Amino acid sequence: MTPPAKPASRIDALRRQIEHHNHCYYVLDNPEIPDAEYDRLMQELQALEAEHPELITADSPSRRVGGAALDRFAPVQHAIPMLSIRTETDTTEGGAIAFDARVRRELELGPEAPPIEYATELKFDGLAISLRYEKGILVQAATRGDGSVGEDVTQNVRTVGSIPLRLNGITAAVLEVRGEIYIRHADFERLNERQRAAGDKTFVNPRNAAAGSIRQLDPSIAARRPLSFFAYGLGEVQGWKIPATHSGVLDAVGDMGLPVCTDRAVVSGPEGLSTFYNSIAAKRDALPFDIDGVVYKVNSLALQQRLGFVTREPRWAVAHKYPAQEQLTVVRDIDIQVGRTGKLTPVAKLEPVFVGGVTVTNATLHNEDEVRRKDVRIGDTVIVRRAGDVIPEVVGVLLDRRPKHVGKAFDLFNQLKGCCPECGSVIAREEGEADWRCTAGLYCPAQRKEAIKHFASRRAMDIEGLGDKLVDQLVDRKLIEDVADLYALSAEALADLERMGQKSAENLVAALDKSRNTTLPRFLHALGIPEVGEATAAALAANFGNLDALVQAADEYAKAMAVSDDATAAARARRLKATALQQVPDVGPEVAARISVFFLEPHNQRVVKRLLEAGLQWPAIEIAAQGEQPLAGKTIVLTGTLTDMSRDEAKARLQALGAKVSGSVSKKTDYVVAGADPGSKLTKAEALGVTVLDEAGLRKLLGD
Ligand code: IVH
Repeated sequence: MTPPAKPASRIDALRRQIEHHNHCYYVLDNPEIPDAEYDRLMQELQALEAEHPELITADSPSRRVGGAALDRFAPVQHAIPMLSIRTETDTTEGGAIAFDARVRRELELGPEAPPIEYATELKFDGLAISLRYEKGILVQAATRGDGSVGEDVTQNVRTVGSIPLRLNGITAAVLEVRGEIYIRHADFERLNERQRAAGDKTFVNPRNAAAGSIRQLDPSIAARRPLSFFAYGLGEVQGWKIPATHSGVLDAVGDMGLPVCTDRAVVSGPEGLSTFYNSIAAKRDALPFDIDGVVYKVNSLALQQRLGFVTREPRWAVAHKYPAQEQLTVVRDIDIQVGRTGKLTPVAKLEPVFVGGVTVTNATLHNEDEVRRKDVRIGDTVIVRRAGDVIPEVVGVLLDRRPKHVGKAFDLFNQLKGCCPECGSVIAREEGEADWRCTAGLYCPAQRKEAIKHFASRRAMDIEGLGDKLVDQLVDRKLIEDVADLYALSAEALADLERMGQKSAENLVAALDKSRNTTLPRFLHALGIPEVGEATAAALAANFGNLDALVQAADEYAKAMAVSDDATAAARARRLKATALQQVPDVGPEVAARISVFFLEPHNQRVVKRLLEAGLQWPAIEIAAQGEQPLAGKTIVLTGTLTDMSRDEAKARLQALGAKVSGSVSKKTDYVVAGADPGSKLTKAEALGVTVLDEAGLRKLLGD
């Protein structure tokens, strides 16, 4: 029986729409519809396919998940072997120059011959995969294996949202596209967060997680792993006219709907190679995924053919590495440091090692559970990672290198004999908390120092010239005990300190003076209330408008917490939920409790009072009368850098007036606020005819 035309064409339309939205979401990183709408399309497709199983095809987006678990992977013979590339380990420009010289020698080019054109791209740090499309439909995905025979991982690769199941406008008999499966940093963090919450083992780095995911026999596990893909070349091709250059191949592959990284270039000669090498080095840390170098390829495919291969490596390509971000070293000791809020952080003291461009001697171990999960012990050989500005961390132990006489399993309480290493007070770990803390609060000098450093920091009170070393000296010499004492410091007293002349002392007094004029969000952030970061501080300021109202709300919350006659936990939660503090967006019961406890504490009350007496002040924030929400129903998108306030503050204030602040521009957006260096959101707003406001327009909207 032939199915009625209607469901068939509806199914077809749904598949096209869903794949279009997959492409927007995974490849362009620019979703056009909300997730719920996407889910609705998928549900409709699944329902229609369930009703008409004869219409199910291999390229239906509904087929991305659902295969059964395998016993083993079937071997796949690669029609064209998957080769590797030579690695240039000279991490200076010399590496680029040497490669160009080699290519010219092989091609027997004299010095007078024109420079060679190269395609330059990133060397992604994941695992190689070959995607086989027949008549435009994904029929097989295989790992590299030994280069000749790989493993059939089609089921798992189908779950990768950015890999199209059907190519755009291509019906070639065979087109094999090769590239790298990898995991983005943000996805990796979330994945490990989830593993941790489920009590499962965390992954050492994105590459291991990606490789482990592709080699899962159960595709439903792979489906839950946030894998991404970039194409970088071809395998077997039948029935498609291959462009003349490698860059042309990647452009064409991109047009077919496959993800191709935009950080690539066509350059000329050795200078072009080293310029690319340096420009990527400069942005390496800001990339949203790991790379371990760049790749240079002779752009002309005809020249590539002339160059050919040596053993299993092409002469026309080379990988030029960057200094590694992970290294092995040995743990000498495990120290415990006290943070601003009394948090006790285990820190590995390491055999010095050069990683990520600096010599690292300390690496964070985060907390006791992490040390135990990784089972890091004194004497162990560990992997240390330092990427960009991120604090170096110990990511894992090489158990097979553990010496016989290794230290004991880590036990924070026993190591400290229950006392804070700075002030000797009792330490405690609350139920459900990951961290041990010193219970002494600001009596503990370590906490006092950290609290003062935070207060002075750029995103808090922004006191120029008040660096960490200076704060240490001021506290150690008992010139200050808390942040309010800062404003009583005289240039004379300061000039006596180490590495402080009269001039710097006067500058610091001037900087302190300048910081007296601040904003309420900065002030609240600077107080260092646990769990209250910049965004929450901005939300509190926007909702209460002034300090008195916030203190009153904190008081109300404390009273609500103190009531003991609730019949059930639910009744108590309901009562707390009705308080003014919990009406603030993103302020849940834990944060509300922290705020309330902070303002209830007599020492904190005194510090706040003395800060106000020292002349700290800020402009009042207009808040809408109770229940009045002039921006209710409006959707606003912020882009670019604002000069008058942080983006968090702008967002919080808009929300306090009832607006919805969204991350992406659509036809439903009412206003786009564009600061300096606005991104693609501004372009999109202009294309859609959405009203664009500058900062003055924003202030007007906020009623300033
Ligand atoms: S081209 C014949 N391009 O590096 C050349 N490989 O040894 C085939 N890789 O495991 C490779 N980024 O998966 C090429 N832009 C890139 C790459 C890249 C990462 C990996 C590849 C393979 C290894 C090459």
